[in-house]
Amino acid sequence: MRNENGFDLWAQDYDKSVGLSEEANSYPFAGYKKVLGEIFNRILAGTGRNILDLGLGTGTLTAKLYEHGCTIWGQDFSKRMLEIAQAKMPDAHLYQGDFSRGLVEELAAQKYDCIVATYTLHHLTDPEKIDFLRTLLSKLRPGGRIYIGDVAFETRSALEACREKSGDIWDDQEAYFVYEEIKQHFANMTFNKFSDCAGVFELWM
Ligand SMILES: C[S@@+](CC[C@H](N)C(=O)[O-])C[C@H]1O[C@@H](n2cnc3c(N)ncnc32)[C@H](O)[C@@H]1O
Repeated sequence: MRNENGFDLWAQDYDKSVGLSEEANSYPFAGYKKVLGEIFNRILAGTGRNILDLGLGTGTLTAKLYEHGCTIWGQDFSKRMLEIAQAKMPDAHLYQGDFSRGLVEELAAQKYDCIVATYTLHHLTDPEKIDFLRTLLSKLRPGGRIYIGDVAFETRSALEACREKSGDIWDDQEAYFVYEEIKQHFANMTFNKFSDCAGVFELWM
């Protein structure tokens, strides 16, 4: 699994390498643009414009929301990813910090209309994801939403089929969402699939 230094090294080529995997329609990034596009549309269909992005990387999603007048807050542990994102969004409030230890103080002190995390929460174990998502639900303003886009599957058997098909490129260090398992922990959660290995979750209080 990559640590912050690994992501620093990936930062310069990140947009290009994701694009190549997306175009090949293969794991892990098959459906990436559809997933980000769906979250973008759902956020702009609502009225809230105060957005927190966790593991925002180079800011591919949030830079578009920023251009549409959203106020962007973000946390990522890679200094280089944050530099690239900040150059795209000079007025965004971006902080360096490892979300496996929670939100940095400045971000924990506020509430948001939407909290997004794309292709990043698979770095947490399933119990860590559940705890973190519960904390994030408490950071939503009334009517707020959490949107997660990631490598994700409706069932454990769909995940196993993708693992088999992907062969050596499957990353055993990452813990992907399985909807039928995680939904048991949340009262309000939906999942929509956008490729054989990706989808969007929506959660609310
Ligand atoms: C695959 S990239 C996804 C970037 C972006 N959200 C996107 O959809 O293109 C994962 C990002 O999560 C960040 N990340 C991974 N684990 C993290 C952690 N524990 N705390 C904070 N950031 C983390 C990485 O630095 C990287 O920028």
